[in-house]
Amino acid sequence: MKVKLAREVELLSDISKAFAESLDLEETLTSILKSLDTHLNLRRGMITLLDPDTETINIRIAHGLSKKSRSQASYKVGEGITGLVVQSGKEIVVPDISKDPRFLHKTRSRKQEKGKQIAFFCVPIKLEGKTIGTLSVDKQADKSDDFKANVRLLDVIATMVAQAIKLNKLVESDRQKLREENVRLRRELKSHFDIHNMVGSSNAMKEVYRLIEQVANSNATVLLRGESGTGKDLVAHAIHYSSLRADKPFVKVNCTALPDTLLESELFGHEKGAFTNAIRTRIGRFELANGGTVFLDEIGDMNPLLQSKLLRVIQERQFERIGAIKTIKTDIRIVAATHQDLKVAVAQKKFREDLYYRLNVIPIRVPPLRERKTDIPLLAHHFLEYFNHSKKKSIRGFGEDSLELLMRYDWPGNVRELENTIERLVILVDNNIITPEDLPFYIKTSRTNSNLADFGSWEGMSYREQLDYAEKLIIKKALEECQGNKTHAARRLGFSVRTMRNKINKYNLN
Ligand SMILES: Nc1ncnc2c1ncn2[C@@H]1O[C@H](COP(=O)(O)OP(=O)(O)OP(=O)(O)O)[C@@H](O)[C@H]1O
Ligand SMILES: [Mg+2]
Repeated sequence: MKVKLAREVELLSDISKAFAESLDLEETLTSILKSLDTHLNLRRGMITLLDPDTETINIRIAHGLSKKSRSQASYKVGEGITGLVVQSGKEIVVPDISKDPRFLHKTRSRKQEKGKQIAFFCVPIKLEGKTIGTLSVDKQADKSDDFKANVRLLDVIATMVAQAIKLNKLVESDRQKLREENVRLRRELKSHFDIHNMVGSSNAMKEVYRLIEQVANSNATVLLRGESGTGKDLVAHAIHYSSLRADKPFVKVNCTALPDTLLESELFGHEKGAFTNAIRTRIGRFELANGGTVFLDEIGDMNPLLQSKLLRVIQERQFERIGAIKTIKTDIRIVAATHQDLKVAVAQKKFREDLYYRLNVIPIRVPPLRERKTDIPLLAHHFLEYFNHSKKKSIRGFGEDSLELLMRYDWPGNVRELENTIERLVILVDNNIITPEDLPFYIKTSRTNSNLADFGSWEGMSYREQLDYAEKLIIKKALEECQGNKTHAARRLGFSVRTMRNKINKYNLN
């Protein structure tokens, strides 16, 4: 069996292709043995791997062996020729197996033809100096065969196999790591968004908890309404993680964050070539969320075309990727949220009425903080504890007067504003206790002039700046009341027309 150089090159090129084409070890090794068969005309080929835990050598891939004989064959280190090669790390060549007593015939698969001899080659597969298995072939041979050349060739192939195994192990352990990381993250999120992690014991919030629990075990579509910062995101999470879908994906899509066309392909996915930039097929969120929940935030901003497509998803639980013919079925629960009054949007023909009713199956209103002021002390302490921990501070609490001020304030930004306020206090305050003096100006004065608070934060401003700011707001208000007439506004403010003009420029009120 003289292997010509050209054939050798062809064989090696075939084998390296097998490596390049698949990351699946089984597949790669199988095609290697197939190439060996095609190019060397072997009768059988076999790759064994040592299992370090049990110290047994098992057949991983066999070519020309029945399944039955394959499963019967397992060797101990030192047993048979395969076992000896693993033990010594050196190749063994048996020119004629019928004459070799070390041959075990475990797989009982060789029927020798009369007058022909079968030669057996077994080379070690080594990784980082250790023998991890064997590559063996047997074939009909005669005495003129160049056994050494064959061994050299098999050695090269064994080295390639070792690399494939190494790569496979890396990929496998990466996958394993990813799987573990995912499980850990899911668990963490789940505990973080457990319904009981929502703070608040007001009757208004108790009603929200009751509704969350009620819808948890159904697939009903939920529409969350509530001002910005009231906790709609948190409620959406709570619904998902207390439902039977908790182990499946929770996929959030913000309907305002993306331009219409991008949002469409984000939701539905697209086929390769569906539009100019569709270089690859892309799986949309509705498909990704299969089995889980899709949270459509700011649904009021969705454009009419997408509204009708969404209606179909809700009604039929099916859709097509953009540019595709095939219809995809998906099992999802939809939770939508908006801070707008959708009924008004429907009246203005900005929002489809039929979609509104489909979404509004179970409406949950998340109440603004000013309607549940008894939650303020609880939330304030909750955030104080949280930021104490994350910023390594140890503020003990709020003085009674300060709590009273926090409760008196209207919190136009709701829980988010309270959270941000406490975060800033934790950074700035150096005492044990948060006193009224520590509180921002607009909270301290909320009793006397609550609408000034609407204009924004006074935080970190000097008195001069606060004075200017207040002046700006008052001038702005006067201008509005005089429908932009500067002379009238100046008269009401007691300014000369010239002063008025200067102020308008200074505060950029043009
Ligand atoms: N009941 C609550 N307990 C603890 N934290 C809360 C609660 N409600 C809201 N928060 C916190 O307040 C912040 C704002 O909440 P969230 O993002 O859920 O509001 P939203 O209603 O979705 O606001 P937007 O309309 O602006 O998206 C978040 O950091 C959230 O963790
Ligand atoms: Mg939100």
